[in-house]
Amino acid sequence: KRVVLAFSGGLDTSVILKWLQQEYQCEVVTFTADLGQGEELGPARRVAETLGVKAEHIFIEDLREEFVKDFVFPMMRANALYEGLYLLGTSIARPLISKRQIEIAKLTGADAVSHGATGKGNDQIRFELGYYGLNPDVKVIAPWREWDLTSRTRLIEFAEKHQIPIPKDKRGESPFSCDANMLHTSSEGKVLEDPWEEVPDYVYSRTNNPEDAPDTPEYITIDFERGDGVAINGEAMSPATLLEKLNEYGREHGIGRLDLVENRFIGMKSRGMYETPGGTIYHAAHRGIEQLTLDRGAAHLKDELAPRYAELVYNGFWFSPEREMLQAAIDHSQVRVNGTVRLKLYKGSVNVVGRKSPDSLYNEKVVTFEDDAGAYDQKDAEGFIKLNALRLKLLGKRNG
Ligand code: ARG
Ligand code: SIN
Repeated sequence: KRVVLAFSGGLDTSVILKWLQQEYQCEVVTFTADLGQGEELGPARRVAETLGVKAEHIFIEDLREEFVKDFVFPMMRANALYEGLYLLGTSIARPLISKRQIEIAKLTGADAVSHGATGKGNDQIRFELGYYGLNPDVKVIAPWREWDLTSRTRLIEFAEKHQIPIPKDKRGESPFSCDANMLHTSSEGKVLEDPWEEVPDYVYSRTNNPEDAPDTPEYITIDFERGDGVAINGEAMSPATLLEKLNEYGREHGIGRLDLVENRFIGMKSRGMYETPGGTIYHAAHRGIEQLTLDRGAAHLKDELAPRYAELVYNGFWFSPEREMLQAAIDHSQVRVNGTVRLKLYKGSVNVVGRKSPDSLYNEKVVTFEDDAGAYDQKDAEGFIKLNALRLKLLGKRNG
C-alpha cells in the first residue's frame, strides 16, 4: 500500500517512482539523502511533487555529519581497503540510506521499500541486507529485477510518456554510471567497460589531473583524537567539515584517483574508476598516526582484520554481528591514537612526512644509533637471536 523509495531525483529513480505508482497502485514516499554528492536537491522535490507525491511524503535530509561520523570514520579506523585499493566510498553509504529508509517507513506507515540498483551489482545486496537486518518483515521492491524497461531507449520512452523530465545528457546514450557522495565519486560502464582502455580525462569530475596539479608541494597537518581526525592545520572541525576540507586539498593536487578491476559479491568482475580525494589523504594520515601510537601486536592484528572488515562492508554486511565484533576490537585499539600528522601533497601523491603524539611509543633514546647512555643493552640481542635461531639450526642439522 505504501512504499519508501530511495530517490535521487535523477531519471532512473523518477521512472521508478512513476512505475511503482502504476504497477503496484501504491502511494510512494520519497527519501533523498544529502550525503554531499554535490547536487542540488531542489529538483528531487519538484519531480516528486510533479509525480503526485504528497508534501508530507517527500523526505529530503542532510545526513552529511552522520555519514562521516558514524560510517566513514569508523571504517577509516579499520584502515579498510577492498582488494587492497578501494576505499569503499559507495559501499559505506548504503547502510545509512537503508537505515533511514526503514525509519521513514515506520514513520509513514509504509510496509515496503524500494531502490534503483540493478540486478547485476553490489548495491542491491547492500540496500536489501540493510533493510532485512533492520526490519525482517519489510517488503522489498527492486524494479530493475522486475520490469521490462531494460534498455535506455525504453526507459526514455516511458519517461516521455509520463512527463518525467529528462536531463539533456541522458537523451543520448548515457556515458557511464556514477555514484557520488562526500567520500567519493565512482564511475562504471560504457567507455570504462574495456579494461584495456585508459580512463578518458572527461570521466574525472572532482580531481585535477595530477599532471596539471601545482608544481609546488603543499604541507598540511591533521590532528587525531582516539583515531578520528579532529583538526586541520590546528583548526578544529566537525567530521564532515574536515572531510570536505580534505576534498579541496585532494582536488587541487589530483589525489585519490583509482582505476580498478574488482570482484563484485555477485560473482562477476567489473571495472570502475574512483575519485576519493579527501579519503585518500585521511587514510594515509591515519596510518601515519598509528605508526607512532599502536603497539606492534595490536597494529599487526589490525592489519589482518582490515581485509575482513573491508569485505564485510563491500558485501553489505554492515549491520552484522561480525562487523560489530571487529568494530569493537578496532575501536578499542584507537583509545591512544592521538597526535598530529604532517603530510606533503604533490601531483597526485600524499606522503606522511612527520608525526608526533603525546601517546607515542617511539623512543629515540632506545632506537638511536648514537650513544644511548645505557637505555638499551646490545648484548641482550645475542640470546634473543640464539633462541630464535634454535629451531632453524635443528632443522638445518636434520636436513643436512
Ligand atoms: N563498484 C563500486 C562498489 O560496488 C561502486 C558501485 C557504484 N554504484 C552505482 N550505483 N553506480 O562499491
Ligand atoms: C548497480 O548495479 O546499480 C550499480 C553497480 C553495483 O551496485 O555494483
